[in-house]
Amino acid sequence: MNGPDGREAILKNINAALKSRKLYPPGHPAIAAPVNKACALLTDELKGMNNLAVGLVNDTLIFEDDMVEDGEKLYSDLIQNMAEKNVEAMIFEKGFTSRELTDVFEILSGSQVYNGHELQKELHSRGVMRITLKNAPAGKRNILEIYNGAVEIVENVMGEVRMGKIPKSGPVKEIVAEMTESVFSDPHAIIGLTMIKNYDNYLYNHSVNVSIMSLSLGRAMGLSVEEVHAIGVASLLHDIGKTGVSEQIIRKPGGLSSEEWEKVKQHPQLGSNIIKRMEGIDATIGRLIYEHHIKYDHSGYPETVENLHPHSQIITICDAYDALTTLRVYQKPHDPVEAIKIMSNFSGRHFNPDILKSFMDMMGLYPTGTMVRLATGELGVVLRLNEGAPEKPVIKILYNEDGVELEKPFEVDLSTDSGREIVTNVNPATTATDLGAFFEKEAAG
Ligand SMILES: [Fe+2]
Repeated sequence: MNGPDGREAILKNINAALKSRKLYPPGHPAIAAPVNKACALLTDELKGMNNLAVGLVNDTLIFEDDMVEDGEKLYSDLIQNMAEKNVEAMIFEKGFTSRELTDVFEILSGSQVYNGHELQKELHSRGVMRITLKNAPAGKRNILEIYNGAVEIVENVMGEVRMGKIPKSGPVKEIVAEMTESVFSDPHAIIGLTMIKNYDNYLYNHSVNVSIMSLSLGRAMGLSVEEVHAIGVASLLHDIGKTGVSEQIIRKPGGLSSEEWEKVKQHPQLGSNIIKRMEGIDATIGRLIYEHHIKYDHSGYPETVENLHPHSQIITICDAYDALTTLRVYQKPHDPVEAIKIMSNFSGRHFNPDILKSFMDMMGLYPTGTMVRLATGELGVVLRLNEGAPEKPVIKILYNEDGVELEKPFEVDLSTDSGREIVTNVNPATTATDLGAFFEKEAAG
C-alpha cells in the first residue's frame, strides 16, 4: 500500500497517460511511461487486496471509497474520459498488465462509445480480462424502446421454439416487468403503441399489443402488480403454440379446410405444453394460455367443462380487440369504436360481461388511436383518455377544416378546450395517416 501519496501518484499517471494519448499516437513513450508507472504503482497498491476501484459519481472522482479532493482540477482528463464513455468505475484486479492498461486507455480516449454489454465485450475481444470498465446504468427506456424490445423478445422466443429449444423465461419476465412498470406509472402513454400493426410480422406485434392491453386492463380492474405481471407474461406468449402450426396455414387467405382448422385449434394446448417446459414460469400462465380461445359461454376451443380462470378472459378480450383492429388476409381493420361496438354485441356470450365492461370503460367512448372529426371540421387522432370525461379525450389535430394535412399538428385537450368537440369517429383509411407510424413518432418524441 502506498498511502495517500501513492494514490495521488496513481491518478496523476493515469491522467497523464490519457492526456498524452490526445497528443501522441499509440505506443509513444509519452504515453508508455505514465502507463508503466501507473501499472507499477497500482500493482503495489493491490498487494494484500484482490481489486481496487476508481469511480466517478456525479462528476466526483472516488478512489476506493474515498472522495478525491480537487479531482476535477487535477485529473480532468480522466474524469472527462470516464464521463464521455459513460463509465462509472474502473476496477483493477491483481495481476493486470500494462498492456491491458494501455488498451483500457485506448477505449477511454477513443471516439467510440459502447453501450451496455458492448463495453465489456470490447474489453474481452482485446484480451483485457483483469480490468473492468463498469457502465453507468442506462436511464429508464422510453416506451418505444420497451415496445420494440418486447417485439424482439417474442421473435427470439418463438424462433427458439421452432428450433426445438426450450426458451429461457428471464428475458420475458424482465420485459414484462418493464411494461408493467410503464403501465402502472402512466397507463395512457403506452396504449397508443398498440396501433403499430405489422402485417409481415403480425404474430410478434400482435403478441406485444395484446400484452400491453392485458396489462392495462388488469391494472384498471385493480389487480395486484404480481397478478398483472403474470397476465402480461401469459398474454405476451399466448400464441406461442402457433410455432407448431405451419406458416402456410397461419397466413392462408380465405377459409381453412377442416383439417387445417383442426391444426390451428391445437395452438392453445401446444402453447401450454411449451410453457410447462420453460423454467420459472408459473402454472397459472400455462392455464391462461390454454384458455385464451375458450369463450365465456364455453364455446370456442379447446373444449372444456371446467370453470375458466378468472383472468383468462382478460387475454381473450384484448386478443379479440387487437385482431379486429388489425388488417388481416381475410379482414379490413375496424377502427377502435367499431371494434368495441362489435365486441359489445357478444357480451355475456363470448365475453365475460364484467371484464368487457372494465375494458370498455378503460378504452372510453373514443379509444386511443381513434381518428375523429370535430365540430370545427378538423380531423384528429385520440392520444389519450381523460379519466372521468370519456367524450373529451386529448387529441392531436392532423387536418384543418379544409381537410389539408397540417405541417405542424398540435395537441388539444377537449376537457379544457371549450371550442372543440368530437362529432364522430372517422375511418382512418380515408386519410393519408398511418396511425402506427404516427404513434411510433409520438413516442420517440
Ligand atoms: Fe390464439
